[in-house]
Amino acid sequence: MRQLSHIDPSRKGKYKILFRERDYHGTTIGALSATGQLERKHDYGPFAGGFIGFPHALCYRCPFSRTYPGCDIDCAGSMEEVILKEGPESIGGCIVEPITAGGGIIVPVPEYYALLREICSKYGIYLIMDEVVCGFGRTGRFWGHEHYGADPDMVTMAKGLASSYMPLSATAVRGGIFDKFLCDPNDPSERMNYFRDISTYGGCAGATVAALENTRIIEDENLVENSRVMGDYLLQGLRSLCDMPIVGDVRGKGLFCGIEFVKNKQTREPVSETEMGRIMGLVTAEGVLAGRTSSSLPGNNTIMNFAPALVATKADIDEIVLAVKKAIEKF
Ligand SMILES: Cc1ncc(COP(=O)(O)O)c(C=O)c1O
Repeated sequence: MRQLSHIDPSRKGKYKILFRERDYHGTTIGALSATGQLERKHDYGPFAGGFIGFPHALCYRCPFSRTYPGCDIDCAGSMEEVILKEGPESIGGCIVEPITAGGGIIVPVPEYYALLREICSKYGIYLIMDEVVCGFGRTGRFWGHEHYGADPDMVTMAKGLASSYMPLSATAVRGGIFDKFLCDPNDPSERMNYFRDISTYGGCAGATVAALENTRIIEDENLVENSRVMGDYLLQGLRSLCDMPIVGDVRGKGLFCGIEFVKNKQTREPVSETEMGRIMGLVTAEGVLAGRTSSSLPGNNTIMNFAPALVATKADIDEIVLAVKKAIEKF
């Protein structure tokens, strides 16, 4: 049998992966095992072992019923409790979306990721940022995690990488981690001195050329900055709707914002699925296509998402905000 002599013995047994409630990472069984959305997992399984959830970081529905900034950022601290309960020697990685997308546009508080990074480093846990949605300017910085200076060990990316003109995804890892997938280059008897775990279409030339051209356009046309500036304008516009009866919370970063709809602003009881469907229909009827949290969170698929093209103008944003306002008035 092939001996992987260069594998760090201190990491042996660290097979578990932490994931955060409300985050989504994909539909294959491994990615779904790492997903914190109960409705998405419904009817699938059995899931892979060793995936452990920890609390989400949405202030509007704080899992600890606390209020920022007087909350000690318990949501980050709770991850350490989970680590200690599971045994730090058994945990190898922690995967998170920098800003949770399908789980309801969750923008953690500014201190959050520094704490998560600190805890991960303390226990030798790799911090994995799923930038599939946030990457390539969506949130007003090139990477979502840049808002926090979070310094991940691994980054996954897809959607904005080739802006869907070609199907492409990629994973970037620290050099030391990549080396673990190679055989020992210093061992002359080692015959398989290369990255073995390839796939049929991995490295497809057409898709990677599209990604290069896509990133050139993003840079040349200053689209990350446009996302930041237009994103601030969008958030401000949506926040102007906060006094409307069913608008519970407005949140977002860059050209990635959401509205959470509620029946009752005091109790924060979400609108029903039927009511949410009606609101979506009313916005569509005003000529704007919005997204929504769907079949993900039991009883709380009530967040409408906005992710306009990175080339969006002020006029586009005005049109979006006006459409939503009119739709809510008609509700
Ligand atoms: C945050 C996040 N991660 C991962 C995925 C899955 O990516 P893929 O569809 O390329 O498997 C998605 C898909 O929407 C996503 O939103």
